[in-house]
Amino acid sequence: MENKTVLVTGATSGIGLALIDRLLNAGYKPILTARNADKVQALAAEKGVAGYALDVADADAITRVCAQVEQDHGPLWGLVNNAGIWLEGDFDAYAADDIKAVMDTNTMGTINLTHTVLPGMLARGRGSVLNVVSTAALYARKSISVYAASKWAIRGFTGCLEAECAPKGVRVMGFYPGKIASNMYETAGVERDLEVAMTPTQAADMMVTMLSDESMVWSQVSGRALKDYV
Ligand SMILES: NC(=O)c1ccc[n+]([C@@H]2O[C@H](COP(=O)([O-])OP(=O)(O)OC[C@H]3O[C@@H](n4cnc5c(N)ncnc54)[C@H](OP(=O)(O)O)[C@@H]3O)[C@@H](O)[C@H]2O)c1
Repeated sequence: MENKTVLVTGATSGIGLALIDRLLNAGYKPILTARNADKVQALAAEKGVAGYALDVADADAITRVCAQVEQDHGPLWGLVNNAGIWLEGDFDAYAADDIKAVMDTNTMGTINLTHTVLPGMLARGRGSVLNVVSTAALYARKSISVYAASKWAIRGFTGCLEAECAPKGVRVMGFYPGKIASNMYETAGVERDLEVAMTPTQAADMMVTMLSDESMVWSQVSGRALKDYV
């Protein structure tokens, strides 16, 4: 298979890390990124892929790292905006810094990275952007106001770009998983029963399917574990 380079954000854990394995298995050339430089280097070495420290909440870092990646590996065929953080609780109790971190990471990170990478894809008339959204962008419920806001924004962004870019040969797609057995809740200090979740590998398999057929634009692919419906 042609060596398609795919930059994955938030790739040191959960969905992103599983996706690195699945992309490698499918013959892609994944680029592993996340904030923790030591973890990025260790996991990149373990997987035999290139790794770069990248905080998607830092717009200057996005510009710098994308330029470096393209210098080292040539044009990106794919971008997976996966990095994201969870915030749960009553809105009035949220700290302002936590609200900013969620919006800067989940929303602006995805928008800024896409803004950096998309012009090259459009100029080449080819490329794929896959945004990891969430079922939280499909409904409204209590206790997730800001996380939901961050993902509803990306649902709108993804749908609009899909329509804008598909006629130019570039696919922009959204994946809307339900609960996944990753570190996301624990990292946010939230207890969650992950017996009822899908696995990161199941999510990654679906994402590789979405990426693989360039003649298809998979608009809003969603999924939840059967046990999550009880
Ligand atoms: N878990 C679920 O139930 C679930 C459900 C629906 C959607 N999602 C979405 O799926 C995506 C992946 O989540 P996950 O469940 O795999 O979470 P996870 O296991 O917590 O992994 C998150 C990854 O993102 C990185 N990250 C966090 N902040 C970052 C930043 N500012 N810049 C770059 N990387 C950053 C983390 O590494 P560093 O901290 O080292 O940067 C880590 O590699 C997120 O967008 C999440 O919203 C998750």
